[in-house]
Amino acid sequence: GSTLCTKIPIPCDAVIAHRGASYQAPESTRPAYLLARDLGVDYLELDLQRTKDGVLVAVHDNTLGRNTDVAEVFPDRADAPVSSFTLDELKQLDAGSWFNASYPERARDSYSGLEILTLDEVIDIAENGDNHPGLYIETKVPEQFPGIEQDLRDKLEARGWLGDAAKTRPAAEGGAVRVGDGPGRLVMQTFSKASLEALEQTMPEVPQVLLLWLGEGGIEAAPSEPQGEGESKADYYARQQVASPEAFRTWLDFAKDHGAVGIGPSAVQTEHDGKFSSQFSYMELAEPWMIGMAHDDGMLVHLYTVDEPADFERYRQRGVDGFFTNRAEQLLTFYGHP
Ligand code: G3P
Ligand code: CA
Repeated sequence: GSTLCTKIPIPCDAVIAHRGASYQAPESTRPAYLLARDLGVDYLELDLQRTKDGVLVAVHDNTLGRNTDVAEVFPDRADAPVSSFTLDELKQLDAGSWFNASYPERARDSYSGLEILTLDEVIDIAENGDNHPGLYIETKVPEQFPGIEQDLRDKLEARGWLGDAAKTRPAAEGGAVRVGDGPGRLVMQTFSKASLEALEQTMPEVPQVLLLWLGEGGIEAAPSEPQGEGESKADYYARQQVASPEAFRTWLDFAKDHGAVGIGPSAVQTEHDGKFSSQFSYMELAEPWMIGMAHDDGMLVHLYTVDEPADFERYRQRGVDGFFTNRAEQLLTFYGHP
């Protein structure tokens, strides 16, 4: 990574476990986060949403069909948004069996019936091992959740992750503590300009990162969908224009003006099993000039979502400061971390 880590309390070679160790265990579940923690990652990454009864939960998709049995448990609500379910309803779902069906070679009986987790439960995991990873929290579809940034602040404050309490957190004994105490223990991330502004207001003391995506109008801070009848995502992305320096400059300035310490651009990946990587394969927001421009502005660069050693190496040579990865074990080995 760059030398920004001398100024920003985030490791220069950050290992951010994307939805936990989600190559080895079902994403965003207890074993995925436990495994990531025990491997010694710097951060557990999670996508934050809010239930109908106001509980903060770690769920990526807007709906529950891809990785739960919602269609069996609530057949009339298979396409309903996460925000329309109470916590009690979400807890009835099986968030692990899909993984066994999709990845038989990595399946485990114990993954059947895994629960969706609340933010509180992810915090418990982060706090209760030999290693104490930080949390790298994304406000997901925040326009659906007015006030979620304040709810998040209230929760983190109540759990002692903000203010003086965070600064006096004792170091773990015998565990790998690279993130350290204080502000670097938490990072907030979002694709949403509005949410970045809200995070700046509610948690100015917490480092924030603006996620970037290459969409139809150039660089966007929110994903776009394929246009027109029957167009595949691959075709859609293939015809995207490469971001112009002017467009990149605009987003960097927006991030900087709102107190962000860095950007989280999408990376081009080597294909492996296709499930995680293929949709990102046509986008490149981590060209050398982009990384240089960010660093010249004092902004660090965390790329998502990168799993292959060849890609770690290519982007390390370009000077990126860390990766969101599903394969924390591979990235830790690559960086030579314990
Ligand atoms: O948060 C970084 C990366 O996770 C963004 O993509 O869709 O996996 O949340 P997504
Ligand atoms: Ca995310």
